[in-house]
Amino acid sequence: MSSAAAAPIRLVSIGKRYSGTKALDNVSVEVAGATVHALVGANGTGKSMLGKIVGGVIRPDDGQLFVDDRPVRYTSPREARVDGIATISQQLSPVPHMSVIENIFFGIEPRRSGLVQRRRMRAKYDELVAQWASSWTRTPRSARCGPPTSRRSRSCARSRATRA
Ligand SMILES: Nc1ncnc2c1ncn2[C@@H]1O[C@H](COP(=O)(O)OP(=O)(O)OP(=O)(O)O)[C@@H](O)[C@H]1O
Ligand SMILES: [Mg+2]
Repeated sequence: MSSAAAAPIRLVSIGKRYSGTKALDNVSVEVAGATVHALVGANGTGKSMLGKIVGGVIRPDDGQLFVDDRPVRYTSPREARVDGIATISQQLSPVPHMSVIENIFFGIEPRRSGLVQRRRMRAKYDELVAQWASSWTRTPRSARCGPPTSRRSRSCARSRATRA
């Protein structure tokens, strides 16, 4: 449990290199709880990279990420999700032949003995819809259906599903 003063997410002196080029150099950021932060910068300055480090997609070469004051070194997005960190990408890329529900729970399906619990997945989806009555409440059969706003909402729903 974090103390009231501690930032839930803290990056300290983060560095990342790609074949000799410093993509991130000595970056320190604190993200306070229950707040919205915007990371603003020119193209190619490392905003996405920072997000990927927090989300466990890539690993920094230098520095330390702290979550709730614990030093963490995620080796996959799955590990970040366990700590309640979900990443929503700028580029939405639903799997076209799968349904909306299958897309939202892709890789995080409720399972028992390795088998996907489809009924439980549907129930969790209904819970999400109930919390979030908006454009995506009527389930289109294909993930390609619906306007971009509703596709974006479904991407956000996926991040909520992480905690459901
Ligand atoms: N896999 C990679 N291999 C080599 N260089 C990379 C790789 N990924 C990112 N970079 C480089 O790292 C730097 C930071 O990239 P990043 O995508 O984080 O920037 P950004 O701030 O998100 O840009 P944008 O505003 O265009 O989204 C860029 O110079 C980019 O070319
Ligand atoms: Mg980017």
